[in-house]
Amino acid sequence: MKKILVIGAGGQIGSDLVPVLQKTFGFNNVISAGYQNDLPDHILNKGPYTYIDIRNKKQIEENIQKYNIDTIFNLASILSALAEKEYLLSYEVNFTGLINILEASKSNNVKQVMLVSSIAAFGSYTPKEMTPNDTIQNPNTIYGISKVFTELIGNYYSDKKGIDVRGIRLPGVISWKREPTAGTTDYAVDIFYKAILEKEYTCFLDKNTKLPMIYMPDAINALVNLLNAEKSQLKHKVDFNINSMSFTPKELAKSIKERIPDFKMLYKIDPLRQSIADSWPNSLDDNIAKEEWNWKAKYNINQMVDDMLYNLKLKLNK
Ligand code: SER
Repeated sequence: MKKILVIGAGGQIGSDLVPVLQKTFGFNNVISAGYQNDLPDHILNKGPYTYIDIRNKKQIEENIQKYNIDTIFNLASILSALAEKEYLLSYEVNFTGLINILEASKSNNVKQVMLVSSIAAFGSYTPKEMTPNDTIQNPNTIYGISKVFTELIGNYYSDKKGIDVRGIRLPGVISWKREPTAGTTDYAVDIFYKAILEKEYTCFLDKNTKLPMIYMPDAINALVNLLNAEKSQLKHKVDFNINSMSFTPKELAKSIKERIPDFKMLYKIDPLRQSIADSWPNSLDDNIAKEEWNWKAKYNINQMVDDMLYNLKLKLNK
């Protein structure tokens, strides 16, 4: 049985991943690590919890030793828009923090490390439609650069330092458990809160900005399936495209309006986030993930919208 440390457990992905891991690997075999003190109840009150700031390598090592950790998920990251404003902080967390995790893993016999890259690892020279798995990557954001670094350093530790490091390039992740934070794709989460609570949303991206997105249950499936994949089948390690759905703000608004007829979408473009979105792909070719570990998405946009509205209305008592 694995003993898993989930770093960034209280964030958007961690909040959904931890319960799935607990169910699969046992409650006491999943240690949630967070940085904030305002962790959600479903993390704080269930299963072992510890505090980790990944800028502090000693803290990571102490927790690996204390809990006999053999597998780590690193979900801690400064997201795209915030990273542009706080790029030195992003450097400490997304670059140095990652090295701390890999080095702490190496010296403490951690066997497997799971990382997340992103569509942000691509750039303006990358083919935009059905972006190939192995292609030009020239991101111009600090977040995107940190994701290329994540892929390359992860592959390096996998090849040369004896740790089984794996990871996927996530599209924009849509989910209802945690409120949106500082990402460029987070309009596609925020819109649901505003549609339910105010019947109106002002979008910071242009109505025709098409981006790859994924619904959280598919993202979690991808992470767990890659974690469990047969190592001998993997030619890639930390750099798998996964594709699910792609849509524009206009298309998402239409799908919501079909279910909330008085919903109104307005636009006020934020130049920073628009320029970030414009440098990202429209859709991804995920054949390599399909071949190497049987990846397959389940949700399309309409199924996602139905499920989001259902769960978020329950959460918001509406
Ligand atoms: N969702 C992330 C962001 O928008 C992309 O990986 O920053």
